[in-house]
Amino acid sequence: MRIEDHVVARIEELGGEIRPGVSLAEETSLGIGGTTDELLLRSQDSIPEVMSLLGNENLPHRFLGGGTNVLVADGELPWVALHLPKARPGMCVEGNMAYVDAAADLGGMVTFCATHNLGGMEGLIGVPGSVGGALRMNAGAYGTQIGTYVREVQLYRAASGELETVRGHDIRFDYRHTSFAPEDLMLRVKLELPSKPYKEILAGIRVCNEKRRASQPLNQKSAGCIFKNPPGGSAGKMIDDLKLKGHRVGDAMVSDRHANFFVNAGRATCSDMLKLIDDVRERLRGAYGIELEHEVIVWQN
Ligand code: EPU
Repeated sequence: MRIEDHVVARIEELGGEIRPGVSLAEETSLGIGGTTDELLLRSQDSIPEVMSLLGNENLPHRFLGGGTNVLVADGELPWVALHLPKARPGMCVEGNMAYVDAAADLGGMVTFCATHNLGGMEGLIGVPGSVGGALRMNAGAYGTQIGTYVREVQLYRAASGELETVRGHDIRFDYRHTSFAPEDLMLRVKLELPSKPYKEILAGIRVCNEKRRASQPLNQKSAGCIFKNPPGGSAGKMIDDLKLKGHRVGDAMVSDRHANFFVNAGRATCSDMLKLIDDVRERLRGAYGIELEHEVIVWQN
């Protein structure tokens, strides 16, 4: 979607920056996605005004974080992509509290906290993406989920059109799901973390990295796990048991390393990936009578 010149001028006055005609295939870990204008929200204070401008101009929009858990439609996209630029350092520590910008890299946050002898998040080390995306989805791995440590979140609340600070215990953190509205924009988080010696945290990080390297296709384009695990089960194991590793639609392929990772093995389109997802879901419904839910966020037009 193209942003008209008079809106671009106003956004720039408000401290935003427009990048016209960006291919989201270059901004997502799957390497899939069409083209649209991108708006970088450089000034946090002006976010409510920018958002109200987009509303008044009837410009649909979506927030793109790290782009690591999203499957974006092909072609010309009918919405603008919003981005928070990464500000360095974007993180600081006071006692057992860590304050981290939503645009910061999740793994970077884990190692930064480790250097301050704050642990607990070792399991999150190899989860790609931004802190904001991890908050929204309550990212987790190896027994750790980010929600456990959240004490406060600063966000732009779409419902009120204002910047707000929400206390951790007023947020619901479930398995890969939170009570944030899809249009809320995470800005900054305060985490309370247990004290732990750096060396011990590092040892935990190494163990998780090794497990991940041994079981996941880290050098291929993917969005992590495609489906949520059904209660008490593993979607990856179920897909594997049906001998679907390597199964493909065009260049969209079930990873031959971890069957719940669907990879872009070349020039896969969103349409290929969606067909593969539907096909696998159908086969699991037939074989096990279960309906798998997406873990990956799908942005269709
Ligand atoms: N398994 C197979 N074949 C496969 C994949 C897995 O037999 O192709 C078996 C494994 O051997 C293991 C069991 O299934 O016995 C579970 O596998 P794994 O430990 O890889 O965990 P998972 O349930 O498949 C979840 C998360 C991952 C997270 C890992 C590690 C979901 C949907 N997935 O995977 O998160 O990294 O645990 O904690 O919750 C993600 O969110 O994108 C993601 C990758």
